[in-house]
Amino acid sequence: MIKVTKQALWSGRFDGEADSSTLRFTSSLDVDSVLAFYDAMGSLAHVRMLKEQKIIPPEDADRIINGLISIVWMMERGEFDIDDSLEDIHTNIEFRLTELIGPAGGKLHTGRSRNDQVATDLRMYLRDVILEAMIDIDALILSLLKAADEHKETIMPGFTHMQHAQPVTLAQHLLAHVFRLSRDADRFFDALDRMDSCPLGSAALAGTVYPIDRDMTAKMLGFRSPTQNSMDAVSSRDNVSETAFCASMTAIDMSSLCEELILWSSQEFGFIEMDDAYTTGSSIMPQKKNPDIPELIRGRTGNAVGSLVSLMVMMKGLPLSYNRDLQEDKGAVMDSMNTISDCADMLSKVISTMKVNKDAMLAATEKGFINATDLADYLVAKGVPFREAHGIVGEAVRYCIKNKRRLEDLTLKEFKGLSASIGNDVYDRLPVKACVERRGSYGGTSPASATAQVREAAAAIMEREERIKQEARLIESCWDDLLKEV
Ligand code: ARG
Repeated sequence: MIKVTKQALWSGRFDGEADSSTLRFTSSLDVDSVLAFYDAMGSLAHVRMLKEQKIIPPEDADRIINGLISIVWMMERGEFDIDDSLEDIHTNIEFRLTELIGPAGGKLHTGRSRNDQVATDLRMYLRDVILEAMIDIDALILSLLKAADEHKETIMPGFTHMQHAQPVTLAQHLLAHVFRLSRDADRFFDALDRMDSCPLGSAALAGTVYPIDRDMTAKMLGFRSPTQNSMDAVSSRDNVSETAFCASMTAIDMSSLCEELILWSSQEFGFIEMDDAYTTGSSIMPQKKNPDIPELIRGRTGNAVGSLVSLMVMMKGLPLSYNRDLQEDKGAVMDSMNTISDCADMLSKVISTMKVNKDAMLAATEKGFINATDLADYLVAKGVPFREAHGIVGEAVRYCIKNKRRLEDLTLKEFKGLSASIGNDVYDRLPVKACVERRGSYGGTSPASATAQVREAAAAIMEREERIKQEARLIESCWDDLLKEV
């Protein structure tokens, strides 16, 4: 093995050495070592292109290719030791390569820079973690969908302003979360589409004098095309902040669902009981069973939003093109992606194991005159203008509050006293089951509508699953090709 002096890649211009505190402060290894595999793959594509374009001699290129491949296998076996005296993962890989194959290793960096390298690595990394997160989000959606399918007839109060509003089914309620999360997953696809171009070959900022073939490297790394402008490619991180936004929105939507699970499992609601496996107790109060998982998910949403804010603020004052501030992008987005994958996974476990207390849900609908709109709608059907019907029902509610009655308990005589248009058939309209069943408008809360919604949401999951598989296959085949020894 050849001994390589370990200096920074840029040390030639300096008389003196950088202070160790400078090296520590500027090092990015704590975040970019996660990119090691992608960095090696990017280098493999680059060197294969350099060979093809006859920019470096084929025998050097072959040595580099085989050296990089053995580095990848070292990584896979967990045997690639990272030297933290070297400032980043790019330097680590280049030094190891040169140790393995000799000075030819120094030809790898022809016609590229760490600026385009890191931008490319990050896009490849994001592509993978986005696909993984989408699988986790879809698993969560599926757990909600299963529960919705079982509870198309389970009636509960629907709320606005946290006040009883109209009866809904539990299916309708859960499906609302399903469609939110489904958009979150789709939004990740949009982000993937926009980052589907390859910065490699943009070099430091201005492109390069070598006759490189950027279409070739883009294709080898599974990108649709190369990026169109070298300065944009090395300096823009909208793809990173867009990913962080997608993660934040997903976290916010999970948090809102968690807030409901926390409320529903309280003694006041008693709508659900979470499984022992996914709850925890109190060190002092022996009776406690706490919803810590949803609480932590609600709490961690702050981290995701915080990362998004960090990224946006990092970018706002940056002139073109690459500035070292950009190094801060990785930790932030890695954090948010890890957070949402973890949270989605735990939340789907909570959902698929929770017990639903149908009786408590139904009993809750007895309070709050939840069928008042249905009484107004009944009057409208009898020819009373809606505004007038609204007034009559308001009066009925006041009467009930004063006399401690429910609307459905009023006698026909009492009803007639409120409006001559009310007949005996009013009693068919007031049970909450009837209220729910009659709301058959598209997207409404009727069981028939829930059946249609479940079908649509399930089809969307399958479509995403197919696309995720397709993307994964494409990436896999790129890696297979790049890892063929020469
Ligand atoms: N660690 C750097 C980053 O993450 C890599 C690029 C370094 N480029 C440079 N000009 N110092 O952004």
